[in-house]
Amino acid sequence: MRAVVYDRYGPPDVLRVEEVPVPAPSAAQVLVEVAATSVNLSDWEGLRGIPMYARFGGLRTPARRVLGSDIAGRVASVGSGVTRFRVGDEVYGDNLGLMGGFAEYAVAPESALAHKPSELTFAEASTLPQAGSIAFQGTARARRGQRVLINGAGGGAGSFAIQLAKLSGAHVTGVDNAGKLDFMQKLGADEVVDYRSQDFTRLEPYDLVLDLVAHRSVFAYRRALTRGGRYLCVGGTVRTLLRVMTVGAALGLLTRRRLGILISRQGPAHFEPVAERCIAGDLRIHIDRAFPLNEVPQALAYVGEGRALGKVVVTP
Ligand SMILES: NC(=O)c1ccc[n+]([C@@H]2O[C@H](COP(=O)([O-])OP(=O)(O)OC[C@H]3O[C@@H](n4cnc5c(N)ncnc54)[C@H](OP(=O)(O)O)[C@@H]3O)[C@@H](O)[C@H]2O)c1
Repeated sequence: MRAVVYDRYGPPDVLRVEEVPVPAPSAAQVLVEVAATSVNLSDWEGLRGIPMYARFGGLRTPARRVLGSDIAGRVASVGSGVTRFRVGDEVYGDNLGLMGGFAEYAVAPESALAHKPSELTFAEASTLPQAGSIAFQGTARARRGQRVLINGAGGGAGSFAIQLAKLSGAHVTGVDNAGKLDFMQKLGADEVVDYRSQDFTRLEPYDLVLDLVAHRSVFAYRRALTRGGRYLCVGGTVRTLLRVMTVGAALGLLTRRRLGILISRQGPAHFEPVAERCIAGDLRIHIDRAFPLNEVPQALAYVGEGRALGKVVVTP
């Protein structure tokens, strides 16, 4: 089969298309013939090995040769212990542990996969598992009348988070680069901020800040919160994440705010509710572009360099 492989961390040109053996599923795994894999910032981070947490399992060289975690496709074979899926079933899921989606076939644990709803195309379904889960968990505490700010709101997880926060009845501010302000407004953001010209931590205090790209000091984040407000950080620099967990948590306790990290729980329980809301017409899936397998380097650069509005998909 064809797969996009890499053997060292670096820019997109370390990736190449190679013929490799089709992987064999173990007892609890499913072999999926990939129809679509969406790109997440975590793929870009895994490609470059930056931030350091992206080198988990492979400090010097990548632990997995093929990136791509959010897969959708048809079951090609199942391991002896698999009970929920049969050959031919249409499935989707976040394969963050094994990756391998930028290829014609990928193996995934049965527990990571769900049956794809017939109302969604493979491309649409592939946008949901990681970005949808993060947005779903990150906005779970948003309430009617609250002021919610989403930092990095024009990307994959952010585009779902804006819509979910609006559905909860909150007043939503989206922060991203100037090229994404219109897009965020179309998704429902009440206010939009260009992070290159305005500092959101100096605007007004918010009841909930969901930060997809944290890199500021915990004092700035604390300033952005109302009394009783909550700052949740999902991704960013390792230094910032460590400070949020330590100094930020203590600072929050002392000043009646809460600063912490959202470790996104994986699995169908966390993305199927998002799919249901898409099918009900409450949420819109925005696919900016689809790339063929041999253009995975371009697809990753498009997301990593911040040009994508919403999601980008690779279709082998
Ligand atoms: N906690 C967990 O369990 C977990 C699991 C998986 C993934 N993650 C993390 O979740 C995050 C999800 O990202 P995604 O896939 O939605 O990424 P994405 O699609 O690339 O969106 C990120 C957005 O943030 C913008 N941005 C970059 N720097 C910014 C800044 N300083 N201020 C405001 N906006 C900025 C980007 O645009 P520009 O680049 O143009 O600025 C982009 O529009 C990633 O950080 C990933 O590492 C966390």
